[in-house]
Amino acid sequence: MNPTFEPVTNLCDYVPQTPDLAAESEAGEGAHCETEMEAVRLGDLASAVALFERVFDVSFALLDAEAGACLRRPADLPDMDWDLFAAMARPLTGSRTPLLIVEEDPVCVLAVPLQGRARSCVAAAPLVTRRPESQADWHAAARMTGCSAATLAEWAARQRIWDPEAALRVAQLALEHDFQVRRLADVERETDELSFHLSSVYEEISLLHRLTQNLRLSKSDMELARSALDWLAEVIQAEGLGLLFLPVAETTEEHGTVTRTKPELLSVGRFPFSAEEVLRWGEKMRLAELGGPIVRNLSPNEAQASEYPHIRNWMGVAVTEGENLFGYFLAVNHARGGQFGTVQANMLHSVASILGVHSGNIELYRQQAELLAGVIRALTSAIDAKDPYTCGHSDRVARIAVRLAQDLGYSAEALTRVYLSGLLHDIGKIGVNDAILQKPGKLTEQEFDQIKMHPTTGFRILSELRNLDDVKLVVRHHHESWDGRGYPDGLTGERIPPVARIVAVADAYDAMASTRPYRNRMPLEKIEEILRHGAGKQWDPAVVDAFFHAKDDIVQITESDEINSPSFPAIALRKPS
Ligand SMILES: [Fe+2]
Ligand SMILES: [Fe+2]
Repeated sequence: MNPTFEPVTNLCDYVPQTPDLAAESEAGEGAHCETEMEAVRLGDLASAVALFERVFDVSFALLDAEAGACLRRPADLPDMDWDLFAAMARPLTGSRTPLLIVEEDPVCVLAVPLQGRARSCVAAAPLVTRRPESQADWHAAARMTGCSAATLAEWAARQRIWDPEAALRVAQLALEHDFQVRRLADVERETDELSFHLSSVYEEISLLHRLTQNLRLSKSDMELARSALDWLAEVIQAEGLGLLFLPVAETTEEHGTVTRTKPELLSVGRFPFSAEEVLRWGEKMRLAELGGPIVRNLSPNEAQASEYPHIRNWMGVAVTEGENLFGYFLAVNHARGGQFGTVQANMLHSVASILGVHSGNIELYRQQAELLAGVIRALTSAIDAKDPYTCGHSDRVARIAVRLAQDLGYSAEALTRVYLSGLLHDIGKIGVNDAILQKPGKLTEQEFDQIKMHPTTGFRILSELRNLDDVKLVVRHHHESWDGRGYPDGLTGERIPPVARIVAVADAYDAMASTRPYRNRMPLEKIEEILRHGAGKQWDPAVVDAFFHAKDDIVQITESDEINSPSFPAIALRKPS
């Protein structure tokens, strides 16, 4: 493969003059059909002539009655004037009835119109009508047929005797038999075509069904395409199939979401092009502007003259959604040496459309996740800025809560909401006076009342965000107590939202395990004692149990400086199902 883009120029040279797929495909199919039909016609004529030769036990010549020309002259017949016979057969053009075009005792020439064939073809053969006793009886017939009397007599001696009327009737019956055979062949051909069409439609529907079954936001466009490529290559019978995905962002975002920053090519089978070549080709074809597929079946001469003589045919389409261009599909070489047509192009287009919509949704989701990440980062930074001593508290509580929830059997999707809840649980502290938050000594009752307002303040701050309904409840209730002595609503036991109960334990542990302005961090033994004592009083006993199961991991979270889980926020936006 030439590393430069130049070779693709040859592919590009084959851009159709019009973007009209139908016209292009049909033109290709038309040329294909023309040759094929000609072959079918010749085979058809040969089979009809063979039938008459079997019935009459004599070779038949093939005449074009309309043009008055002999198309095939049998070698084992006397050298007769077949061009004259062809001219005499003219009345048979369009006829369905056999005729004796020559009747010159003791010879006649039987002519049979080959019905339904494109040319006005007539099969003709001389028949002997009696065995004359005298050589002189051959002179008139010899003159009429254009050969010598001796030759004619010598040939006639080896022939069956036919009554002219009987010969005509037999010819008519053979003609009808031939007609029925051809009709049966037509029905079989139509059945095959219908069956092929139905199986194409079935394959397309089942391919699209398989694809749509895999349309989930959790599945990246590359993952979906990987599944689609194998299925599609099999259905459209392409030797090679490539799908180039264009980059969606210039750089990878800091928070670790998976973002494509350079073109990536997926391919199956024998696909000879690099990502750069497909990109250059797609741009030169202006596929995105065409809005539909291009199909190109090359003649052997065109293929030989190109830089890639092994590329016999190709088709391509852009993967788009609205104004957004996500990539290019390119299929090369029909696997069975056949041609790409409308059926294959439609399938390629349908799959490209689904991938385009899926990529569009993923991109929209990515942008929303970006926005949410930015907002949440800004909010948590604002809390940290107010109280440098608790820096990183929100992130640690979030990760401890996730670890506890894992122990309690939460699903992966639900964990993302737990993480978000932990991150935002103290958001209401934005409304608390800095002097109170940073006060080194014991708080007065009035100051503590102000602190106690942060859950409801946080709930109000998030109140407009409908997508965060479950998170808001955690923010409001993370200071409730299992025995009902917490705030702001004095909820008890299982009336407290489950994630709020988890965050309460995570929050208490991190507060005790961190150094605060007014005290040093507590030793682990002391924290464990407090938690054990508070189980069933301040905290949900099941969550305290989970703490002891996951204690080693949780201690590590507190020790670690790591901020930001790599899975956030790519999945944090989604609500648990
Ligand atoms: Fe709090
Ligand atoms: Fe807190």
